[in-house]
Amino acid sequence: MANNLLKGKKGIIFGALDEKSIAWRTALRCHEEGAQLVLTNAPVALRMGEINKLAELVNAPVIGADVVNMEDLKKLFEESMKHFGGGIDFILHSVGMSLNVRKGKSYTELDYGFNQKTLDISSMSFHRVIRTAWEMDALNEWGSVIGLTYIAAQRVFPDYSEMADAKALLESVARSFGYHYGVRKKVRINTISQSPTKTTAGSGVKGFDGFISYAEKMSPLGNATADQCADYCVSLFSDLTKMVTMQNLFHDGGFSFTGVTQAVIEQMEK
Ligand SMILES: NC(=O)c1ccc[n+]([C@@H]2O[C@H](COP(=O)([O-])OP(=O)(O)OC[C@H]3O[C@@H](n4cnc5c(N)ncnc54)[C@H](O)[C@@H]3O)[C@@H](O)[C@H]2O)c1
Repeated sequence: MANNLLKGKKGIIFGALDEKSIAWRTALRCHEEGAQLVLTNAPVALRMGEINKLAELVNAPVIGADVVNMEDLKKLFEESMKHFGGGIDFILHSVGMSLNVRKGKSYTELDYGFNQKTLDISSMSFHRVIRTAWEMDALNEWGSVIGLTYIAAQRVFPDYSEMADAKALLESVARSFGYHYGVRKKVRINTISQSPTKTTAGSGVKGFDGFISYAEKMSPLGNATADQCADYCVSLFSDLTKMVTMQNLFHDGGFSFTGVTQAVIEQMEK
């Protein structure tokens, strides 16, 4: 169902690790809609080699960059602009990592060294990416930047732990930089708050299977899949959403505004 919504547009996609990744699904959809792409991920993720399969499918170069390294980011933008022969129209930041969750440290026992790294990789990297584009004047007018987030930024999900704080910061960066880039160049910056999705990052959350089926029951439309998230990204990269900026956009089948559902009541009455 391609409609050339991104014909002539050029974008950088961060975070395609394997075919389940939201970034992977989004790269496929953007390609289908006529966009030209550059793919990027951390050098350690590139060593897995999976991303080369995607690169072939979407006919895109792969340029390694650690999102916490400003030199890597500068090189990524320089090489991307060279590849495209000009400016960039959209960026997907689909990056997240919690060191404390990984090391099994609960929210009440955070290691602050790990915590700083979590915030740098998962939140301030969004600032670093946008700032690199800003300083190089890499984004075209009416460009569009998306970060991916989760509703734990607004409501408590205990096992999401420090990532809740990281996502709150990420959403704030979207608003704050969205203001500056909007004024300067009509670039829009938003976050998409996605349903729990079975990916490598998602499955790292303790009790993920229970969590995802609870969300499914609590959402009038059910959980949004990675492919549906990719569709939503396409719409936000397209010219059909030019005046949407500085928003946290829930893409969750209605979960965020549901108090209870019949399915949950029935489960409780069992
Ligand atoms: N899966 C879910 O349930 C869910 C729900 C809402 C939001 N999100 C968010 O969606 C985004 C994408 O995650 P996903 O679910 O597709 O999982 P994923 O594991 O496929 O993607 C996470 C990516 O982050 C990359 N990354 C980690 N550290 C990096 C670094 N230092 N430099 C560059 N890249 C780095 C990884 O290599 C990986 O490609 C994340 O921000 C995640 O928090 C996921």
